[in-house]
Amino acid sequence: LDTPVTISVVVHVLYNQAEENISDEQIFSQIEVLNKDFRSRNDDKSNVPEVWTGLVADANIEFRLAMVDPSGNTATGITRTETAVTGFGTDNAMKASATGGIDPWPTDRILNIWVCNLGESLLGYAQFPGGPPETDGVVIDYRAFGITGTARAPFNLGRTTTHEIGHYLNLSHIFGDGRGSSCADTDYVDDTPNQLGPNYQKPSFPSVSCNNAPHGDMFMNYMDYVDDDTMCMFTEGQAARMNATIFGPRASLFQ
Ligand code: ARG
Ligand code: ZN
Ligand code: CA
Repeated sequence: LDTPVTISVVVHVLYNQAEENISDEQIFSQIEVLNKDFRSRNDDKSNVPEVWTGLVADANIEFRLAMVDPSGNTATGITRTETAVTGFGTDNAMKASATGGIDPWPTDRILNIWVCNLGESLLGYAQFPGGPPETDGVVIDYRAFGITGTARAPFNLGRTTTHEIGHYLNLSHIFGDGRGSSCADTDYVDDTPNQLGPNYQKPSFPSVSCNNAPHGDMFMNYMDYVDDDTMCMFTEGQAARMNATIFGPRASLFQ
């Protein structure tokens, strides 16, 4: 991409408890994080080790709340729905009103983000391109969304949504899909070093695995599992993969 593209977003807030009904301000704070992270305008990219600063990529993707609802009326790009469900899981129940959630806005045109209570151990999940339209989008726990309000350390810098939208745009985890089982697992991106498995919390550089010495794992990548304040970059290869998705399976978002 030579010029930025903009993805329209709707945020569906689902709440059983009042605190789960997060504020508009918290939602705006998340959109701001996305517009920094996918444009390489995040201040903390200064934490990237010198050996990789040349790989830090501007993905040229921007986000804005949808200004028109599915019926063609002016909208805020935010829906709020009270639910009888006290905690959701990985079964997509939040994506249909029949199961205590709310149906998506047209997923061919709009990135749907459901924000709800996912319990204490699940931060979020995403659907890759090519899946069923009725469940397309990303889901984020209300404590891992945005940078204010109910956002809770160490996942209070909006990076769960950055990570999940990476998946939505076809990025794999940088450690591949085997989660620590093999150095041969790939993320299909050449400029991210092979690494054995996920890194957690706040590793220090270098963190070597497989045969990736001396620089080791690129644990500060958004597609690893470190804390929000430790992840700060996509690579040029990852940006190219996301851009290919925008011209390929997700092209309808830009019609
Ligand atoms: N575990 C989740 C996933 O695989 C998200 C991890 C996000 N990490 C973070 N620091 N926010 O999709
Ligand atoms: Zn992930
Ligand atoms: Ca790689």
